[in-house]
Amino acid sequence: MTTLNRYWTPSAQPLPAWPEPDTFELREAPIPTPGPGQALTRTIYVSLDPYQWGYKKRGVEPPGAPCHARTVAQVVESRMEGFAPGDLVFNTNGWAEYGLMGEGVARPSYMIPRKLDPRQGRVSQAVGVLGMLGLTAYAGMILQADPQPGETAVVSAASGGVGQIAGQLARLRGARVVGIAGREEKCRFVVDELGFDACVSHLSPTFPQDLKAAAPAGVDVYFENVGGAVFDAVLPLFNKGARMTICGLIAHYGDAEGTDARADLMARGEPVFRDRNVTVRDLFVGDYVAGHHDAFLADMSLWVASGKVRYLEDIRQGLETIPAAFAEMLRGGNFGKMLVRVAEDPTL
Ligand SMILES: NC(=O)c1ccc[n+]([C@@H]2O[C@H](COP(=O)([O-])OP(=O)(O)OC[C@H]3O[C@@H](n4cnc5c(N)ncnc54)[C@H](OP(=O)(O)O)[C@@H]3O)[C@@H](O)[C@H]2O)c1
Repeated sequence: MTTLNRYWTPSAQPLPAWPEPDTFELREAPIPTPGPGQALTRTIYVSLDPYQWGYKKRGVEPPGAPCHARTVAQVVESRMEGFAPGDLVFNTNGWAEYGLMGEGVARPSYMIPRKLDPRQGRVSQAVGVLGMLGLTAYAGMILQADPQPGETAVVSAASGGVGQIAGQLARLRGARVVGIAGREEKCRFVVDELGFDACVSHLSPTFPQDLKAAAPAGVDVYFENVGGAVFDAVLPLFNKGARMTICGLIAHYGDAEGTDARADLMARGEPVFRDRNVTVRDLFVGDYVAGHHDAFLADMSLWVASGKVRYLEDIRQGLETIPAAFAEMLRGGNFGKMLVRVAEDPTL
């Protein structure tokens, strides 16, 4: 067995607006040894998510450390109670082949390592529909926006990790669902495979008119993943009493430091929000883990197993592909939830 751990870390500061091919460098270090209360795990899947760019731009990660990411991994050696070699786990190894979990290992407080049960669904889904992404969609769509039968719900980045789930949950609630996505094949997938009622492309020169035509009764629920021109097209369509959940504003993740995309969006929307009594809620998935994760997982694993919720993954192969896959995702190049397999998945 090798004794080296390969991992990606940002190569230079300041970071560019959006990641470039030379933004990250591959480094090697000895594989860490688990201390008391810790386990060494080997990464199988690395989840690539837009918020990771925000982490880097805000300097959340210690310099030189592996880039943060949620991962699916397998325990190699354990001094951690309840975890044994061979166990499959959800944890946060980052863009790295190996990582420690357990006592004293830094991680966001709500990303709690847990053992995975492959009978509950494909283990890759623990960083997707059966993990934080699914909970994000569930919290934003079901718990916050609460679509009613016959209402119109609009979801942006509709074929992506969160968007595809959020839209299907609104459908399960009996709403009419309109997706917004980029390429035509994404729009076709959202309608033909996921069962959305319509999907329009934000790349079309007639996008605002297309959206209006796809939502002839106006918009009662808007699940916002994007911001920018996409938000501007939705804004005039809000009905009285509409609910908007701000899940993310990916179009602004490359904005210059010091700009406040959310404040700007609220200022642009304010006259309509006030006039039509639109409720706007912010969403942070970490707020829902303690109170809702178990109920969510019970519901969602049944919906996925029964085919009521379908879920597309865009899985790339090999640690080397991570920076390019990450940059591609931020530019709309992913088709489904983006993740990278860095070691063999023993459940396949
Ligand atoms: N609030 C929370 O706690 C929480 C948790 C998880 C995720 N999020 C947020 O949820 C959103 C979706 O995340 P995800 O992981 O599911 O990513 P994703 O949707 O799988 O991937 C990002 C997608 O965003 C779209 N996009 C990128 N730039 C765009 C632009 N300028 N205009 C329009 N669309 C653009 C692209 O899709 P198209 O090709 O279709 O344009 C791209 O594929 C992000 O904003 C993320 O930060 C929030």
